[in-house]
Amino acid sequence: MTLKNKKILIIVGGGIAAYKALDLIRLLKKNNVIIKTILTKSGREFVTPLSITTLTKSKTFEDMFDKNSEAEIDHISLSRWADLIIVLPTTANFMTKLSLGKAEDLATTVLLASNKDILLVPAMNVRMWLHKATQKNLNILQDYGYHFIGPEKGEMACGEYGEGKMSSPRQIFVYLKNYFHQKNLVKNKNLKALITTGPTREYLDPVRYISNESSGKQGYELALALKRLGVKTKLITGPTNLTHGNDLKIKKIISAKEMMDEVKKSLPVDIAICAAAVSDFKPIRKSKTKIKRKNFNEKNITLEKNPDILDYLSKNNKARPGVVVGFSAETENVIHNSITKIKEKHCDLIIANDVSRKSFGFNSDYNKVSIIDKNGKIKFIPKNKKSYIANIIAKIILDKLLVNDKNFN
Ligand code: PMT
Repeated sequence: MTLKNKKILIIVGGGIAAYKALDLIRLLKKNNVIIKTILTKSGREFVTPLSITTLTKSKTFEDMFDKNSEAEIDHISLSRWADLIIVLPTTANFMTKLSLGKAEDLATTVLLASNKDILLVPAMNVRMWLHKATQKNLNILQDYGYHFIGPEKGEMACGEYGEGKMSSPRQIFVYLKNYFHQKNLVKNKNLKALITTGPTREYLDPVRYISNESSGKQGYELALALKRLGVKTKLITGPTNLTHGNDLKIKKIISAKEMMDEVKKSLPVDIAICAAAVSDFKPIRKSKTKIKRKNFNEKNITLEKNPDILDYLSKNNKARPGVVVGFSAETENVIHNSITKIKEKHCDLIIANDVSRKSFGFNSDYNKVSIIDKNGKIKFIPKNKKSYIANIIAKIILDKLLVNDKNFN
């Protein structure tokens, strides 16, 4: 993968590692990357605009209210111009500003106004990095969709050893090659995904139904995460209270049968994720009128099995998606039961949800999951925002799809 003509905006932050920005710029220029730079006020304490401009052969932007540069190019067009924005070094203080959504200078304003991918390259003392405040900011920023490389373990400028050292220009260069490679693959292959989410409702009569507490949040966040990675995504959702903008293609359904019909209509896709809590059973008959208490007899609620959508997708010989992902919600023996499920349902990955507590899982903004593959490999993700978990799952799915598919290489 060549980086030729990629447009990268580099924001140079205020830390001793700022000098490495010059090495990165040199490396990228050698590979014909088009670079624009913003030097923050504290970055200026470590490198000069002149040294950056000498390497980039273009103006180094500095101030928000610099009449010349604002006339030439404003903060919105700077961010629109870029294919990717990198902040290096990203200091603890800068992470705090971003997590608060500050727009107090040109750099923070560009980042807040940006709809592009942003790569943060942290560099700081090990204690600062491991401080709860920084780790909390890390979580918030990952949740907002910022990408991170590093920090690495090693000896730092302050003489201490540990996690906090900035990734080297070479490591960043390799990261960028992989990043653009994956972007290209997703775009060229025109990848498509379908995601089921939310509960289903199985009506006994016009006003009563069987359902569950699923809010649809986890599936919705997954759809957004995949869309951010460039995948054309359709969300098939049962009844939920989620409010969503026009940012996603959404199809609303009520029952498991309708969900299955919509899934069938959406094939073929490259990725299928079944995050919905589909009702396993439905009443054999739905009464046309409200069932009266005095008329009740058990026959009114005889149940039959609903179709299994995940099983249908996994075993679909004609149009099996490249990666099929199931979810499992368990209150006990979470891993054991989920491994059994992955075998029964023949999917490629299963996301095991611990739904034993109210503070995460069903109808919460938080989740706690283990991602399990067919070979029993397990990646545990501790309790975190559903959006954060969705970003991790989406990247794993994409990696799996792109590595597995020989056409991609
Ligand atoms: O919606 P939220 O409030 O955000 O909560 C998210 C969640 C906890 C509901 C979600 O993360 C989750 O775990 N969803 C699956 C819950 C579930 O129904 O698990 P299950 O063990 O019953 O089903 C296993 C898998 O088969 C699931 O992928 C399910 O979508 C699928 N299935 C089940 C039955 C059926 N008839 N068709 C299916 O496709």
